[in-house]
Amino acid sequence: MTLLALETSCDETSAAVVRNGAVLANVVSSQIKMHEEYGGVVPELAAREHLRNLIPVVNAALAEAGVSMAQLDAIAATQGPGLPGALMIGFKAAQAAAFALEKPFFGIHHHEAHLYSPWISGAPPRADFAAFQPNVSLIVSGGHTMLVLVAAELKHRVLGETVDDAAGECFDKTGKLIGLPYPAGPVIDRLAEHGNAKAYDFPRPLLHTDSDDFSFSGLKTSVRYFVRDHPDILADDQQNRDLCASVQAAIVDVLVAKTIRAAKRSRVRCVTASGGVICNRSLRSELAKACAQAGMTLRLTEKTFSTDNAAMIGILAERKLLRQTAPTSCEAEIALNWTLD
Ligand code: KG4
Ligand code: ZN
Repeated sequence: MTLLALETSCDETSAAVVRNGAVLANVVSSQIKMHEEYGGVVPELAAREHLRNLIPVVNAALAEAGVSMAQLDAIAATQGPGLPGALMIGFKAAQAAAFALEKPFFGIHHHEAHLYSPWISGAPPRADFAAFQPNVSLIVSGGHTMLVLVAAELKHRVLGETVDDAAGECFDKTGKLIGLPYPAGPVIDRLAEHGNAKAYDFPRPLLHTDSDDFSFSGLKTSVRYFVRDHPDILADDQQNRDLCASVQAAIVDVLVAKTIRAAKRSRVRCVTASGGVICNRSLRSELAKACAQAGMTLRLTEKTFSTDNAAMIGILAERKLLRQTAPTSCEAEIALNWTLD
């Protein structure tokens, strides 16, 4: 079974070829540099850039995999959620290609694909989904922060999600207040390495409530007031590093504690995590520590497949194909506010 998958939901143009659970190629063209000067993703520019990049990225993925269009058994693309103009480029291109080749087409839920990304690697495949089910999965990126109970393959229930900003957004927006470039998440990660996480005390929103939901806008506001009231701190390198470490610790504490609590409450022994923020070294190590303490197995997504990529779209589409899930109609449209069950 050989599939071509496309992902264009935000600022990454990506095409992947997957075969039997293995990723033969995963080409990602990132637009981060282009959006950097605006301090965030500009939807209209993102869509135009996808238009420019999509065919070269698809050709590169097919060439790397050594696969021709005629050899494909199915085509998949992100159907939603995402930026409307951006989604439309990849979704419509994939739909049209599947129509022309008379092959099945799968419109894939972006968040559902993140749930399967912890199992992606190059050849040989390690798609041992069954051994890690049921699990509680943390999806944490610039656009989303959610906890999902994966009861069995393709059977999920959202336990909680952010009621305002996503965790990545919190990294990026607090970083901007501190004067860091976009995206600030990786920069805070680096600066925090040599900072004192206990230097400044920031709130841990919703940590002591029963809810599995997250909220990060209050933390962002408290950093805004802190920076306004202590302008000298930004001029001092070490205090800057301490500030980054303290903000990071507040975000990481909330993510880790709520994930473990949700896993305990759901009586699962396995935790998985994906999304761009999972590249954060402190989050990776604190999650590993907490899972070990709770006697739980942790499956973290490899960094390459943590940020948005088409490989995760292809891996999930292949599982759907194998399980004889009905393909998506060629008349289907993008799904902007598509919620995960
Ligand atoms: O999954 P992703 O590529 O795109 C979506 O938002 O869907 O995630 C990007 C987010 C950005 O907010 C970025 O700042 C954050 O992931 N990020 C990090 C790190 N690497 C990426 N945040 C904290 N520490 C990192 N090392
Ligand atoms: Zn994503």
